[in-house]
Amino acid sequence: MNLSTFGEKFTHKAGISQLMDDLGAAMAGGDMLMLGGGNPAHIPEVQLRFRNRLEEILAEPGGFEAMIGNYDGTRGNDAFIEALAALLNDEFGWQISPKNIVLTNGAQSALFMLFNMFAGQMPDGSKKKILFPLTPEYIGYADAGLTDDFFAAQHPSMEQLDHRLFKYHVNFDELEVGDDIGAICVSRPTNPTGNVLTDAEILHLDTIAEDKGIPLIIDGAYGTPFPNIIYTDAKPFWSPNTILTMSLSKFGLPNLRTGIVIAPEAIASAIAESNGIMNLAPGGLGAKMALEMVRSGEIMQMSKEIIQPYYQRKAYHTLDLFEEHLGDVPCKIHKPEGALFLWVWFQELPCTATKLYERLKERKTLVVPGSYFFPGLENEDWQHKHECIRVTYAQDERIVSKGVEIICDEVKRLYA
Ligand SMILES: Cc1ncc(COP(=O)(O)O)c(C=O)c1O
Repeated sequence: MNLSTFGEKFTHKAGISQLMDDLGAAMAGGDMLMLGGGNPAHIPEVQLRFRNRLEEILAEPGGFEAMIGNYDGTRGNDAFIEALAALLNDEFGWQISPKNIVLTNGAQSALFMLFNMFAGQMPDGSKKKILFPLTPEYIGYADAGLTDDFFAAQHPSMEQLDHRLFKYHVNFDELEVGDDIGAICVSRPTNPTGNVLTDAEILHLDTIAEDKGIPLIIDGAYGTPFPNIIYTDAKPFWSPNTILTMSLSKFGLPNLRTGIVIAPEAIASAIAESNGIMNLAPGGLGAKMALEMVRSGEIMQMSKEIIQPYYQRKAYHTLDLFEEHLGDVPCKIHKPEGALFLWVWFQELPCTATKLYERLKERKTLVVPGSYFFPGLENEDWQHKHECIRVTYAQDERIVSKGVEIICDEVKRLYA
């Protein structure tokens, strides 16, 4: 096979793809405790609401036929976009119009398009990068650049808290945003750590980005206004210099692949153009399923009253389980402030987190080794990268508690 540079880059098995295959193969063997994936929970009340919604669509004359039989425009379902603009304006006073919104096939593809619009080879011959001002960051960013040397990243500062907790912060004192940076990007809440950047941190980043004339991309896959898996009182943020990406996945519809971009008009139009080239149009199933919930504001209410408390309970319960089983293992856990994960840091772990992952897999427990979550710092020799694991708490109670017990037992053996 004679492949282009693009072809080679996207067929070369990236570390993350290998890991995902490994997780998939391990799961296929049955009886595995899955604490490694990013799948949202199947929350019964939420699923029932979707079931009812689908039945309503089926009962509408022509509803089903229109849903499956018509392309939307390149920007996505107009009715959904209009309803969302109205909701965001009413709730947060953002002053956006439908021209600021575009849908994509999942937030992942939105981020791929955005990254490659703002970084890589520039028309004047220069090269630009996407900057992650706080790592650890989302594993799914790591291979999303079309050219090499695509990301720059920065170590966090660490705040030590009581009760075995710690929290990462952006280290503003050392944050350098050179002329080679095309955009700044953060996930809020952060996958993998469950960190939620404070309002002050977000504002500071936005000011820095604006001063440099570059956008701040906020990946709100878990954030406000929906699915709102945030346990702090962080405020939703958008400014004309910000690109906010959202998703219906963690609201409970990951298989309908619906991403949402809120951006300045020119950028939203550029994403719509890219949609046209890459996909003709984004799929409309997610938008149709969620339309009435956005129109009525129910999407906010479900997020606040069902989804957020569901995960918060699970987060604190999983924290208690670790506390119960860790004994005197030197371990700290990132303060759970949102998303679906605990980020567990074993200080001076006697082996790498990847080795720990292997050992846990042998004991039928799957986690994700932390070293994958440092896009932009891949080549950096930093012990901390090899001392952390990501543990998902979205699964059933039985799976999570058994898994935590095995993790704690295995690390006790290692330290012994
Ligand atoms: C931080 C973050 N951003 C983006 C995505 C992509 O979401 P989507 O399913 O909408 O493509 C995920 C998925 O897990 C994620 O964790």
